[in-house]
Amino acid sequence: MAENTVQARRSLAGKVALVTGSAKRLGKAVALRLAAEGADLVIHHGNSHAEAQETVAEIEKLGRRAAALSADLRKVDEIRRLFVEVLKEFGRLDILVNSAANFLPASMVSTTEEIWDASLDTNLKAGFFCAQAAAPLLRRTKGAIVNFADVGGLMGWPGYIPHSVSKAGVVMLTKVLAKALAPEVRVNAIAPGTITMPGDPPEWEADFVKLAPLRRTGAPGDIADAVSYLVHAEFMTGHTLVLDGGRNLGPAKEEFR
Ligand SMILES: NC(=O)c1ccc[n+]([C@@H]2O[C@H](COP(=O)([O-])OP(=O)(O)OC[C@H]3O[C@@H](n4cnc5c(N)ncnc54)[C@H](OP(=O)(O)O)[C@@H]3O)[C@@H](O)[C@H]2O)c1
Repeated sequence: MAENTVQARRSLAGKVALVTGSAKRLGKAVALRLAAEGADLVIHHGNSHAEAQETVAEIEKLGRRAAALSADLRKVDEIRRLFVEVLKEFGRLDILVNSAANFLPASMVSTTEEIWDASLDTNLKAGFFCAQAAAPLLRRTKGAIVNFADVGGLMGWPGYIPHSVSKAGVVMLTKVLAKALAPEVRVNAIAPGTITMPGDPPEWEADFVKLAPLRRTGAPGDIADAVSYLVHAEFMTGHTLVLDGGRNLGPAKEEFR
């Protein structure tokens, strides 16, 4: 019985997932994982048109259906159009993963109104309006939303003030959406620490490794595992899973061992 339950839980066959910002990097890793579990995929993207087509091709090789749809998530009318297109192309939506974001450095001195607005609009406002547009579809399918916060939204990076605030907002957005959309739709989030990919500046890894008790950065597979877990976690809503190698705990101190 338990084995059957696990098997049933793992199949996303017949379901449709939209991952924002999934032409490349973490969004792509999540899209590929959901496709490997059986879902058809909407590859939302902004400007990465060629990469989005490559991701679609990779998903089709897995035997799943996929479509690349672009929208500037800073514009609410584009978000609404995106979900109209999803309904037209796929007829349903079961999973929304709000992964698209920017990561703009901005300190106490260097933060401008433009950077503030770009950070909050893309990282926080877009997540709300995607959820608003998706809600009628997700209620119908008893679906799930997974938001992307950031450990910076829990700890606060002084070199990334608007970014940190936007991601702290994602944690609250997740809680309030979980209440607003219950009981039909579950809403959870992940808060990653540094996840390294080929081409990332080497100092990102070096800085993080010094400060994280697990002494490594994350890999895209760590993120895909967590999103998959949240998609299937039928008794969890409003929760933010922290995936940061223990970074938010502070460095491991020898003297207390
Ligand atoms: N990578 C990490 O170490 C890390 C750590 C903590 C949290 N996170 C979070 O994890 C998520 C994914 O991270 P990532 O590093 O893969 O992200 P990323 O490469 O910085 O961005 C993902 C995608 O977001 C899209 N995007 C940005 N602004 C947009 C807009 N206005 N309209 C439409 N699309 C837009 C871009 O699409 P196009 O390229 O198509 O324009 C981009 O490819 C983000 O929410 C990030 O904050 C990542």
